[in-house]
Amino acid sequence: MKLSTSVLLSLLAVSPLAQAMLPIHVKQFRFIKPSSADNDASSNEVFYVKGIDYQPGGSSGYDPDGDSDVLSDAEKCARDAYVFQQLGINTVRIYSLNPDLNHDKCMTILNNAGIYVILDVNSGNYGENLDRSNPWGTYNSQYIGRVFRFIDAFKNYPNVLGFFSGNEVINDQKDYANIDPPYIRAVQRDMKQYIAKHSNRTIPVGYSAANTVDLRLATYRYLQCNSLDGTTTNKALDESRSDFFGLNTYEWCSGTSDWESSGYDVLNSTFSDTVIPLIFSEYGCNKNLPRTFDEVTDGLYPSSGLGNLFSGGLVYEYAEEANNYGLVDMDDSDGSITYKDDFDNFKSAISKLKDSVVYESDLGDSSLYRCNSSAITSAYKDFGVSNFTIPDQPDDIATMIKYGVNGTNVGKILTNYTAPTTFDYTIKDSDNNTVDATITYDSSNLLNALKVSSTSESSATATSSSSSSSSQTSSASSSKSSSKSKGDAAHIAGPFTQSGIFAVLLSVLL
Ligand SMILES: *[C@@H]1O[C@H](CO)[C@@H](O)[C@H](O)[C@H]1NC(C)=O
Ligand SMILES: *[C@@H]1O[C@H](CO)[C@@H](O)[C@H](O)[C@H]1NC(C)=O
Ligand SMILES: *[C@@H]1O[C@H](CO)[C@@H](O)[C@H](O)[C@H]1NC(C)=O
Ligand SMILES: *[C@@H]1O[C@H](CO)[C@@H](O)[C@H](O)[C@H]1NC(C)=O
Ligand SMILES: *[C@@H]1O[C@H](CO)[C@@H](O)[C@H](O)[C@H]1NC(C)=O
Ligand SMILES: *[C@@H]1O[C@H](CO)[C@@H](O)[C@H](O)[C@H]1NC(C)=O
Ligand SMILES: *[C@@H]1O[C@H](CO)[C@@H](O)[C@H](O)[C@H]1NC(C)=O
Repeated sequence: MKLSTSVLLSLLAVSPLAQAMLPIHVKQFRFIKPSSADNDASSNEVFYVKGIDYQPGGSSGYDPDGDSDVLSDAEKCARDAYVFQQLGINTVRIYSLNPDLNHDKCMTILNNAGIYVILDVNSGNYGENLDRSNPWGTYNSQYIGRVFRFIDAFKNYPNVLGFFSGNEVINDQKDYANIDPPYIRAVQRDMKQYIAKHSNRTIPVGYSAANTVDLRLATYRYLQCNSLDGTTTNKALDESRSDFFGLNTYEWCSGTSDWESSGYDVLNSTFSDTVIPLIFSEYGCNKNLPRTFDEVTDGLYPSSGLGNLFSGGLVYEYAEEANNYGLVDMDDSDGSITYKDDFDNFKSAISKLKDSVVYESDLGDSSLYRCNSSAITSAYKDFGVSNFTIPDQPDDIATMIKYGVNGTNVGKILTNYTAPTTFDYTIKDSDNNTVDATITYDSSNLLNALKVSSTSESSATATSSSSSSSSQTSSASSSKSSSKSKGDAAHIAGPFTQSGIFAVLLSVLL
């Protein structure tokens, strides 16, 4: 894409580039969105997820042998990006994607439209997830190889906020809570080692937990801990821990719940020792329809509620299915979208939120979290933590991490593609009136790359294979070294390196 000088100038006029789609990192128990390519902690802000779960067609809509998934059709992605913008959200979670398809156009559309994604690396198909009844049999190089291809397919998109290693794997049927937990850590260890070795940046790896109250607390204590003695980091535990924790919770029902009856007060106290970001990875009880989403304004976001602890959440879900959780109706015959009352109500609730601005530099250092088996089993007695041993990494998985999976499908944001502003689908509002739909792309969303100095690049490579203290240390060192390299236009990475004019203008400006 050739950027005209006027586009470049208008881009540069936006200052600070608060809308830039720069990679998000973790600091303490917060997600941090860099405010500019300088990645300066005194202006970087805490990021709250305002989002929805997105899987039109449901799990049965995903076919591992098919030639499409929900991010393979640019026309549909344009339609849905428009709807996301109308809702006023900044993030979507997607459950099932095919790592062997090309997602460049859809990911470019979402990026340019200002939308981050959190991606489940698994699918519901056999061999594409950890089978909770047979974790030792399904934790193997075939499954993990697909996870690594998935990481390759998405690692270079700046708007990937994080990956989920698993969704509701640990549950309280049979002995599953006893046998599964160490295998979740094994998968996370492998993913984090692969990212450290083969990705240009740290991408947070989290887990999405089911809302069984005692089990969720035990799972959270188990997955975030990284120290055996409470004073020193244990490498194997740090490397396998969750970088963030998602909770699927439907406790607050519109119109009838409040802070106490929803159990939010219990969340506020039992999760108050968190050292990693917490989000609701699914929420939105639909007992009372239409949903009014009082929990958005009265529970999850305000700093007088869970906002001092949680970093927002994702409403279940975009398109209506048989279980009645949709914000929109999608007509499968013509692909048209009709907003439901739930859409209007969620949009209204989101629009009322006033973020309190917290800067990265206001946060203390990330703290250790002690692995305490009695604290875990006191929450759920059958949780499998007789010790904190993680299953050994099989040799063939270690080899894949060392050499890569030779992925030929490494996605990237397209700089030679003009994202569509209109599309061939009809959008109707909740009164059945056709909406005149045009997507707007804020030019500041095209700023996707942090400045990186050559020193931090080489040190990132040098430490990558053993990196365990990952996100915090690497982001800290890169922000330090980026200030050293301030003004060094040669080190500006990403799409704009293709535009010599931009690099020159930026270096003049800085
Ligand atoms: C890092 O990013 C550069 C530029 O976007 C790309 O050429 C390179 O392949 C990336 N490296 C990895 C390991 O993905
Ligand atoms: C939530 O917990 C914090 C302390 O962790 C407390 O200050 C706050 O008052 C609690 N919120 C409510 C509504 O009880
Ligand atoms: C471990 O957890 C138990 C139960 O919550 C608690 O009584 C104990 O003090 C904890 N141990 C340490 C060393 O923190
Ligand atoms: C930890 O527990 C596992 C599974 O129960 C067992 O195989 C292993 O030997 C134990 N390790 C130690 C060091 O006790
Ligand atoms: C990828 O290629 C390298 C070098 O050609 C090779 O050593 C390695 O075994 C390959 N890995 C896989 C998983 O095919
Ligand atoms: C745009 O770039 C991609 C990847 O760099 C390339 O595969 C594609 O052919 C290019 N398209 C056009 C129209 O130049
Ligand atoms: C919208 O139109 C459809 C048919 O086109 C009809 O079935 C539906 O009841 C209408 N809804 C409203 C709210 O008018």
